[in-house]
Amino acid sequence: MAHFVKTCVRRFSTSAMREQAIKCVTVIGGGQMGAGIAQVAATTGHQVVIVDQSEDILAKSKASIHKSLQRVAKKKFAEDAKAGEAFISEAIDRVSIQTDASNAVGNADLVVEAIVENIDVKRQLFTVLDKAAPQHTIFASNTSSLPIKDIAECTQRMDRFGGLHFFNPVPVMKLLEVIRIPQTSDETFDKLLAFGKALQKTTVNCKDTPGFIVNRLLVPYMAEAVRLVERGDATTRDVDTAMKLGAGYPMGPFELSDYVGLDTMKFILDGWAEKYPDNPLFEPSAMLNKLVAEGKLGIKTGEGFYPYKKK
Ligand code: 3HC
Repeated sequence: MAHFVKTCVRRFSTSAMREQAIKCVTVIGGGQMGAGIAQVAATTGHQVVIVDQSEDILAKSKASIHKSLQRVAKKKFAEDAKAGEAFISEAIDRVSIQTDASNAVGNADLVVEAIVENIDVKRQLFTVLDKAAPQHTIFASNTSSLPIKDIAECTQRMDRFGGLHFFNPVPVMKLLEVIRIPQTSDETFDKLLAFGKALQKTTVNCKDTPGFIVNRLLVPYMAEAVRLVERGDATTRDVDTAMKLGAGYPMGPFELSDYVGLDTMKFILDGWAEKYPDNPLFEPSAMLNKLVAEGKLGIKTGEGFYPYKKK
């Protein structure tokens, strides 16, 4: 941690140096997405702080990063176990953890928010961070479905605000959606694109529209699969088999929903249904609501559309 602070303070001792690329990243939220973003940033040479509400959650984030790094190292350094171990420990050393978000952004070039999909909670967070972060710090949200503009409005730095939308599992999925709002400066947007390149992701641009590209197509498709089963037209298993073998998808829509989390699916659909009540694609689903109410959120809780072995 001390080394991290020194590195970042040294980099920003003069204003000219502020033009430099993003090196120090604070990720708010240590869940699946936040941990994945932190991992990829660390393995590509960035100094990373992960923030979450408790030491317990943060310990789980670090453990999941470690596990994922082992999977990456096994493939990347198949012939050289020692190099694999060095890769893992160097990445882990670049990641520190914090429960105080204001403290954690003091040296950040970029803050990536990956917390619950709730506009009020996100706005509360960014209002606080806006006061705590240095002038040059760029803010980005990894929101799945909320307008970036609605989140950014609570800050005094809309020119240094954008969207960085990652995909689960972040270390594996090669895409990064980069979103700008009308106020985002060219400099900020270029830095976000360069950051995506530094993470070795392929970037695509999209306007600040609901779900950007991927979720705008994927979420209605997954919801339509649920409706198909609700009508009794086919079973979840057969729908998944059909989409894997008939359309070449790596997972069927129910496997993918369980993987992403049914709570996340519900947050997205409910938000869009409220905002666009006339769009039948966003209609809430009784089956999804029931599973979420029962705490069956997918792989993370041991059951969703399917049961899973407890890890
Ligand atoms: N960390 C590191 N490596 C991982 C990993 C992880 N978390 N998960 C999988 N891998 C690696 C494995 O080690 C394996 O490597 P190998 O090929 O060298 O053996 C490789 O990825 C494939 O993994 P598996 O063999 O375990 O399993 P699969 O072949 O079934 O692949 C999958 C798993 C990559 C998750 C694949 O099923 C897939 O691509 N599924 C679709 C995922 C998807 O659509 N994601 C987007 C969701 S939408 C989203 O995230 C947006 C949000 O806003 C909702």
